[in-house]
Amino acid sequence: MGERMDPSVITDLMARALENRDILSIAAGFTDNSILPKQLVREAVLALTEADAPNGILQYGLNQGKLGLREEIRQWLEGFPGERGGCIGTDQLIVSNGSQQSLYLAMQTLCDPGDIVLVERPSYFVFLEMLKGLGIEAVGMPSLPDGRIDLEGTAGLFDDLKYSGKWNRVKALYLIGYFANPSSRCVPEADKVELAKLMDEKDLFVPVLEDAAYRDLYFKEPYPARSIFSLEAYDPLPKLFLGTFTKPFATGMKVGYGVCSDAHWLEKMLSTKGHHDFGTSHFSQGIIEYVLKQGLYESYLQHQRKHYSEKADMMDEALEATGIRDLGWAWDKPEGGLLMWLRGPEHIDTRIGQPFCETCIDRGVLYVPGDLSFTGNEPDNCVRLSYGALESDRLVEASRRFGEVAKTFS
Ligand SMILES: Cc1ncc(COP(=O)(O)O)c(C=O)c1O
Repeated sequence: MGERMDPSVITDLMARALENRDILSIAAGFTDNSILPKQLVREAVLALTEADAPNGILQYGLNQGKLGLREEIRQWLEGFPGERGGCIGTDQLIVSNGSQQSLYLAMQTLCDPGDIVLVERPSYFVFLEMLKGLGIEAVGMPSLPDGRIDLEGTAGLFDDLKYSGKWNRVKALYLIGYFANPSSRCVPEADKVELAKLMDEKDLFVPVLEDAAYRDLYFKEPYPARSIFSLEAYDPLPKLFLGTFTKPFATGMKVGYGVCSDAHWLEKMLSTKGHHDFGTSHFSQGIIEYVLKQGLYESYLQHQRKHYSEKADMMDEALEATGIRDLGWAWDKPEGGLLMWLRGPEHIDTRIGQPFCETCIDRGVLYVPGDLSFTGNEPDNCVRLSYGALESDRLVEASRRFGEVAKTFS
């Protein structure tokens, strides 16, 4: 096995946690089993397998993805407020085994070992692990105290990369635009635009990836920032926009997608996808296409959004009740997604193996240590919690357990 392929730290943590059967996990970004769309999936399966339904649905499909589903996705994306009509074509869409596969295909086709990808601070830790596995260096763009990208600092970073001779190794920039993992923050439209202008000013002409895995799971209204596909400032740049049906719909069906603006890059991704699997499950795609086509997705989402919004409130209230905010812990209540990001007092060290983490495991609660989401110079006092999977009473209990440990250490 190559040296870069270290076993995942988080897998180790999960394995240890499973040894303790009473442990409550607010670590994994799983969705809530109690509201997964059994009814809708059953309805779709019945329709797709009726005696006179075409047999093709049980056959291999196109490597690029089912055309009908791509058309539904195109319409869905264009339906977000302010999105530019006609800016996405079905021929630009690739349906993948989760958006994770599209991310992997993008990195495999853009980068060689030793290349650099610019990321936010913090960023999606599984993506950071993937980069490490591919021998790609992730470089974090500085952030402001409120979590936004520090554009002035990023200009300085670009200059440093130039002077240190690393500039030509920068091959892509990765953003999580909506209710991000782990921070649950969105990138304001003005910041997206300024970032593209900065890239232009500094002659950084590299593909931009916008990951929108949680975009559909807003609690009150869609986040009012257009995607990079609709922003003129990004017109000159190659782009990949990533979305998924795993978080907002049927998680285990693992259907996600990418929209790629560059035909040559897309062709490379498709040929690599052919090496992986010749195409995402045709049957799963058929189910999602059916749900979208019948207009059932949006009504299902309304239920999901309310459910997760209530769960976010529960976690927030349970944490507040422990009094840790007065002891230096800070967090924002999420406005969408499945995750909550907490910053502890500076002396707290939440890393795996440290007393804080060990105590949480002993007290029966599991979280994701924040340092995994950074790329060097990481603060060690952050954690990512998820209110996605646990049912209400266990969620409240897990949050309480976490808060009690945080209180002891603060
Ligand atoms: C930010 C982000 N992007 C992509 C993914 C991959 O999701 P999936 O492959 O299930 O579509 C995840 C999953 O947790 C995520 O948090």
